[in-house]
Amino acid sequence: MTDPTPPTPSPPPSPSPPPAGAPDIVRAAYAELVVTSLAEAREFWVDLLGFVVTEEASNALYLRGYDELTHHNLVLRAGPVAGCGALAYRVRSDGDLRRAEEFYAALGCRTRRLPAGHTAGVGETVRVEDPLGFTLEFFASATHPRRLQQRYDLRRGAEVARLDHFNISVPDVPLAYRYYSSLGFGLSETIEDDTTLYAAWMYRKQTVHDVAFTGGAGPRLHHLGFFAHDPHSVLRMCDILGSLSLESRIERGPGRHGVSNAFYVYLRDPDGHRVEIYTSDYYTGDPDHPVLRWSVRDPRRRDFWGHAVVESWYSEASVVLDLDGEPRPVAEIAQAAESSVRVGADGFTAPAE
Ligand SMILES: [Fe+2]
Repeated sequence: MTDPTPPTPSPPPSPSPPPAGAPDIVRAAYAELVVTSLAEAREFWVDLLGFVVTEEASNALYLRGYDELTHHNLVLRAGPVAGCGALAYRVRSDGDLRRAEEFYAALGCRTRRLPAGHTAGVGETVRVEDPLGFTLEFFASATHPRRLQQRYDLRRGAEVARLDHFNISVPDVPLAYRYYSSLGFGLSETIEDDTTLYAAWMYRKQTVHDVAFTGGAGPRLHHLGFFAHDPHSVLRMCDILGSLSLESRIERGPGRHGVSNAFYVYLRDPDGHRVEIYTSDYYTGDPDHPVLRWSVRDPRRRDFWGHAVVESWYSEASVVLDLDGEPRPVAEIAQAAESSVRVGADGFTAPAE
């Protein structure tokens, strides 16, 4: 499972405080998905998965999990082209908005400051096109809706608690690793061999990750990861979809990952956006938190029970929209792909040919 000669440099320091000049990122907080039918998206995310509607407008829905204490975890915005509009990180203070502008401007990235209310429920935001090609949104202040943590009577569907992480596809994983290290993200787990870093999990909050990246055509959003409190919530979601003859929404799982120990299921929404409902990762807040390095040849890394990974899970992902809402061009992978590494005599972790 462990690799004695990792291709990554020494782990970055504890994720707090951030490096000088970098914004102090608290956590992955919400994402904006552009959907082609708000009615169909609402049926999936609200009626089936059980997300709470905090606010709705004619062209957007603002949703949250039952544990979330700020306005939303997910913005569904109607648009002509389905894609990922933004991945949003909360920063510690208004000064970090300025630091974010300066940090990305110094990298030659486009930035845009938007007034409070542009995204409902949050204060001023800074949007940037980051060096990996993703549109990120930074915010420091947010409104707090009615607390629903103990409204067990309201819980439905997957009983989603909160957003946990973004999983992104990038053509150059070492580049993504260096960039997120420069923002002060810690490293929890990797998939690698003697020469190649295939995937990495990095964090600011004290869990396995706020962001993970896997080598693949990109920039693309692979999935949004939402936390549920127990495996039963994952299984119940599958049973609900089966009962309604909507089993085609289930892409992969349920199962347990080796990486992160997550008990998971992956679903696809009506536009093909992928969502992971998962539970049971672990604490990473100690300053000397050790990195868990998985060999790319260990079949338990992606599925602890050794189940095959469906081909679509490796090949399909959501396009990313730029600051103007236009789809970003997708570059092919610039390194060896994890999905091409055959494992064992039957190569059962490789995609179907
Ligand atoms: Fe995930």
